Amino acid sequence: MLKIGVLVSGSGSNLQAIIDADDIESEVVCVISSNPEAYALTRAQSHGIACYCVTEKGEDGEHKITHYLKQHKVDLVVLAGYLRILGHNLLKEYQGRIINIHPSLLPKFGGKGYYGIAVHKAVIENKEKKSGATVHYVEDGIDTGEIILQRELDVQPDDTAQTLAQRILNDIEHSLLIDAIKLLEKGE
Ligand code: GRF
Repeated sequence: MLKIGVLVSGSGSNLQAIIDADDIESEVVCVISSNPEAYALTRAQSHGIACYCVTEKGEDGEHKITHYLKQHKVDLVVLAGYLRILGHNLLKEYQGRIINIHPSLLPKFGGKGYYGIAVHKAVIENKEKKSGATVHYVEDGIDTGEIILQRELDVQPDDTAQTLAQRILNDIEHSLLIDAIKLLEKGE
C-alpha cells in the first residue's frame, strides 16, 4: 500500500478517480493545492483528507510542500492537474516517486506552454488522427520523464479542443492513472 500525496490546481477529477478506485490498495493521505479556489480541495475535504494550500512560488513554497508531504509520510506524489513546475529540492527528495498525468501522447504536445486546453487546441490544429494521455515520472524537464503508461483514442473529425479534452479526461485519464498506480503498487 502506498501513501499518496496529490498535488492539484483545479477541478480534481483525477484526484476523485483515485479516491473512488476500489481496486487499489493505496490511499490518498493528503492533497496540496496551488490554488485556494480549486474544487479539488472541496473534494478532498468532503472525504476527510488532509488539505493544504501553498500559493507561494520558489523555495519557500517548495519547502512547505516537502514538509507537508513528509509529515504525512507520503510514498508517492501524484501531480494531477498541478500547474506549477516542481523545484530541485522537492524533485531530489522524492526522486523516482513523483508521477504526472498529461493529456497527450508524449513526447507529442508536451513541454512549456502545453497545459490545459492548449494541448488539445494544438492537437486539433495539427490535424492529428490520434491523441490520448500519458502517465510519466517527473524529473527536471517539463513532461520529459520516463513514461509509465500511455493510452490513445481517435480524434473525431468533428472534435473541438473542448470535446477532445473531455473525452480524454473521462475515457482515458482516470483509468490510466489508476492503472499506473497499480503498476507502482506491484513495484513494476
Ligand atoms: C487533466 O487533463 C490532466 O491531464 C491535466 O490537467 C487536467 C486536470 O484535470 N494535467 P482534473 O483537475 O484532474 O479534473
